[in-house]
Amino acid sequence: MLKRTEVINALQSKAFGEPINVRGWVRSRRGNKNVSFIALNDGSTIKNIQVVVDLEKFPEEQLKPVTTGACIAVTGILVESQGAGQAVEIQLTELVVYGTADPDEYPLQKKGLSMEYLRTIAHLRPRTNTFGAVFRIRHNMAMAIHTYFHEHGYYYFHTPLITASDCEGAGQMFQVTTKNLYNLKKNEEGKIDYSDDFFGKQTSLTVSGQLEGELGATALGKIYTFGPTFRAENSNTPRHLAEFWMIEPEIAFMDLEELMALEEDFIKYCVRWALDHCMDDLEFLNQFVDKGLIERLRSVIDKDFVHLPYTEGIRILQEAKQNGHKFEFPCEWGDDLSSEHERYLVEEHFKRPIIMTNYPKAIKAFYMKIDEKESGYNGRSGQTVQGTDVLFPQIGEIIGGSVREESYDKLISEIEARHIPMKDMTWYLDTRRFGSCPHAGFGLGFERLMLFVTGMQNIRDVIPFPRTPKTAEF
Ligand code: 4AD
Ligand code: MG
Repeated sequence: MLKRTEVINALQSKAFGEPINVRGWVRSRRGNKNVSFIALNDGSTIKNIQVVVDLEKFPEEQLKPVTTGACIAVTGILVESQGAGQAVEIQLTELVVYGTADPDEYPLQKKGLSMEYLRTIAHLRPRTNTFGAVFRIRHNMAMAIHTYFHEHGYYYFHTPLITASDCEGAGQMFQVTTKNLYNLKKNEEGKIDYSDDFFGKQTSLTVSGQLEGELGATALGKIYTFGPTFRAENSNTPRHLAEFWMIEPEIAFMDLEELMALEEDFIKYCVRWALDHCMDDLEFLNQFVDKGLIERLRSVIDKDFVHLPYTEGIRILQEAKQNGHKFEFPCEWGDDLSSEHERYLVEEHFKRPIIMTNYPKAIKAFYMKIDEKESGYNGRSGQTVQGTDVLFPQIGEIIGGSVREESYDKLISEIEARHIPMKDMTWYLDTRRFGSCPHAGFGLGFERLMLFVTGMQNIRDVIPFPRTPKTAEF
């Protein structure tokens, strides 16, 4: 058989009159009694190539296995298309059927299947137009991220997935053990003895690579991680996964202003990359999934992000409440903002992304640098930390970051106050004992970025095989 040409290249080709071979999956077949049109897709692009079949040369009987979902190889002559909607088409001369797809059985036979239904067939949904577009964009976003950091002098630093420490201190960790769960022995205090477990201690899947990332940054200067992260939080929302990918840059000598500038520059770079590299897929999503998508992507690039101290944010929310806006959850100073608050500020009040800063210490992690001079709250110091959350339209929190507490003593007292087991933290504390330096970093949830860039509504639909409470299919 002739060497294969990918559909994305075939559609660009000007070699009219020449033989060509393409292979892929049949999207549809239609026609009349003289001619049949096969729309063929091989995943290289959202666009199909049209194969024209002369039924005098290929009787209907021979085309019978060529149904939606079937996999075929087509050899033919590339010609300029007569019909509207495509520039080129292939006049069939030779057909090979690799695999049939029984029309009575093949689940993607029907059009307009719901996202909920497609999730139940996540092993096949990459073959739909929507999911093909999403996963091509996902690849491109990963390339954008690596390119950004590489071009800005960061090193890609690999942090472990199995860990004995809880970075976020939220206790949402999946345990890793080889112990026999049917025969768990406990000591006199009723505790499990992990000394004979695989690692000789209690271990879990990581919730964040940050702590190890800080070890990298305080040696290599600028690093980033990009890997899977696991959270056993029982949140059944359109924005939470139990297994998601996170990008965590960590930078020595960076202060709060520089951190915010980096967060903004980085996100804008990724969004611009999507517009520059994924237009075919974005146009499809803009048409069929979210009519405002491309405009929203452009508007994020054009506008400066708002820098908003938490205290000021609370003031705005309370003002809105007084003016009759209804919120489901409270928003007093000290409360963690819920997504309705974040979205009010972003979508209704400022109408652009916000970087919220200087949060109350109590609602943030132990490693954040304590504000010394101004807390912004009744003029009292030591109540707020240099944390930054980037809040986005439609999404809410897309980035969580902070300047890190570099003072050994302050960090120790924070760890003690929060009852974090110190013996697990000695290696981390060594960054503050030996040549401690100011530093900062953030974590971007990759799937939250994907939600924004694709306009998809549910985080389960921007990762190929989502893991959420009670689902670990495929
Ligand atoms: O705000 P988080 O918990 O911050 C950290 O983990 C820090 N260690 C990051 C750092 O400073 N290096 O998580 C960071 C981001 C969130 O802003 C959100 O985008 C995403 O990770 N995220 C989730 N995405 C999907 N499903 C979940 N369950 C998520 N939890 C957090
Ligand atoms: Mg957060």
